[in-house]
Amino acid sequence: MRSSFTRVGTPVALAALMLLSSACKSEKKETAAGGETAAKAGVAAGGKIALLLPESKTARYESHDRVHFERKVKELCADCEIIYSNADQDASKQQNQAEAALTNGAKVLVLDPVDSASASAIVTRARQSKIPVISYDRLIVNADVDYYISFDNEKVGKLQGQALVDKLKADGKGTGTIVMINGSPTDNNAKLFKAGAHSVIDGSGLQVGAEYDTPDWSPDKAQQQMEQAITSLGKDKIVGVYAANDGTAGGAIAAMKAAGVSPLPPVTGQDAELAAIQRVLAGEQFMTVYKAIKPEAETAAELAVTLVRGGTPAPGLVNGKVNNGQKDVPSILLKPVAVTKENVKSTIVADGFWTPEQLCVGAYKDACAVAQIQAP
Ligand code: GAL
Repeated sequence: MRSSFTRVGTPVALAALMLLSSACKSEKKETAAGGETAAKAGVAAGGKIALLLPESKTARYESHDRVHFERKVKELCADCEIIYSNADQDASKQQNQAEAALTNGAKVLVLDPVDSASASAIVTRARQSKIPVISYDRLIVNADVDYYISFDNEKVGKLQGQALVDKLKADGKGTGTIVMINGSPTDNNAKLFKAGAHSVIDGSGLQVGAEYDTPDWSPDKAQQQMEQAITSLGKDKIVGVYAANDGTAGGAIAAMKAAGVSPLPPVTGQDAELAAIQRVLAGEQFMTVYKAIKPEAETAAELAVTLVRGGTPAPGLVNGKVNNGQKDVPSILLKPVAVTKENVKSTIVADGFWTPEQLCVGAYKDACAVAQIQAP
């Protein structure tokens, strides 16, 4: 198991990079050749691109997705302007933000929906103005979306579930009781994570003693749910916790610590947040799932620039299709990687997702030393 995690890391990073560099190359070709054609045809070389992100409870959006997207658009297109908004978990706010972006002249929407279903209204509105929509990270369902860029999200749930099952079997607790804390019921990804996790956990011998969905992916709500589970199941009866992301894992861990659960049982997560990687190194969280956000955001930026210029994606960039209930959406799917203490160094640190300087502070210095992670 350990070595397979490590093995997965390198090809994934490479595959992501290859995907990216082929996109870069073709983008450069298109820019060089296309510049002249665009000028002759009197078509502007740039335009406005709207990036609409869903929330600020999860650290990734402001600290990774937005940063990499904006940097890449600026690098590829001096004449492009980004209209950025974050909906703070509010679907109607996102609807208004999308309206405002269209009114403001956005020529492409890169939309990560708060609510995968109700966001179809935004797509309908954009289609009326012939504005292409890229469904970013979360799939917009039952809508005429142009492209979808994400990870294999059912695989994310499978990686989480498998890691938990394997760990508990290895510890002789393969028939014990676990708690499942899933993600937001309005997020299509959360459904896929849950389905993937159940496909491994159900039938493994483990019992699911309590299971919750977590509105808004809120760590506070996850903490309350875990408190309830401890009250109803008993604090010594829980052998493991399936938490769908690092925020909910943090909430569950806080509830267990407050209830005096010791030692903490294995807890899963997702997003490789800084605090979660520190918990993994310190042995408080068993695993997380690393999704390389840089290639995801940069690929979305490249595609958005191509579309704003009226082009089509470079051959090979689209590597699959995902049915969203209305159509098979041309998709670019990246691979998630399971991360435990053993491969933080070969994945997160090797990719520069977090640096040793960021990870190895204060109480985490010793854990870093054990994992052989040191500042250069
Ligand atoms: C999902 C996303 C995850 C995580 C979660 C919580 O849709 O794929 O990476 O961020 O939302 O916001």
